[in-house]
Amino acid sequence: MHQLLLEKALKTLDNAYAPYSNFQVAAALECADGSIFTGVNIENASFGATLCAERSAFAAALSAGKRQFVRILIIGGTAGQISAFCPPCGICRQFMSEFCAPDFEIVLYNGEQFETHTLAALLPKGFLL
Ligand code: THU
Repeated sequence: MHQLLLEKALKTLDNAYAPYSNFQVAAALECADGSIFTGVNIENASFGATLCAERSAFAAALSAGKRQFVRILIIGGTAGQISAFCPPCGICRQFMSEFCAPDFEIVLYNGEQFETHTLAALLPKGFLL
């Protein structure tokens, strides 16, 4: 499954809109029913309005009615070159915690190997109401 998620993320990486940082990110989100939604980072001249690839993938899946998620694969790098792991930012971790169980998997890829973390490990003591 990691390989399929990777293929989908690689396919969409070119769609990243990152004219300011030139750092392109893509994410492939696997839902409990096996469907996969992708997302890319979408930057803005008002930098704070930038949307990360992970939240972009979640927005697509949530908008299609999905609510159960298994894992997300994330890739990223300058000019789309994947040479290091690209862990999710803090806002994305908090965003995921709204919809995902602690054992939700976050899969990273550095161009050579995969690294898998649980959401619980990457977001200890996340905020929940
Ligand atoms: N970015 C993501 O898409 N996901 C992350 O988790 C970290 C950062 C994007 C935002 C911005 O467009 C670029 O990477 C550089 O920060």
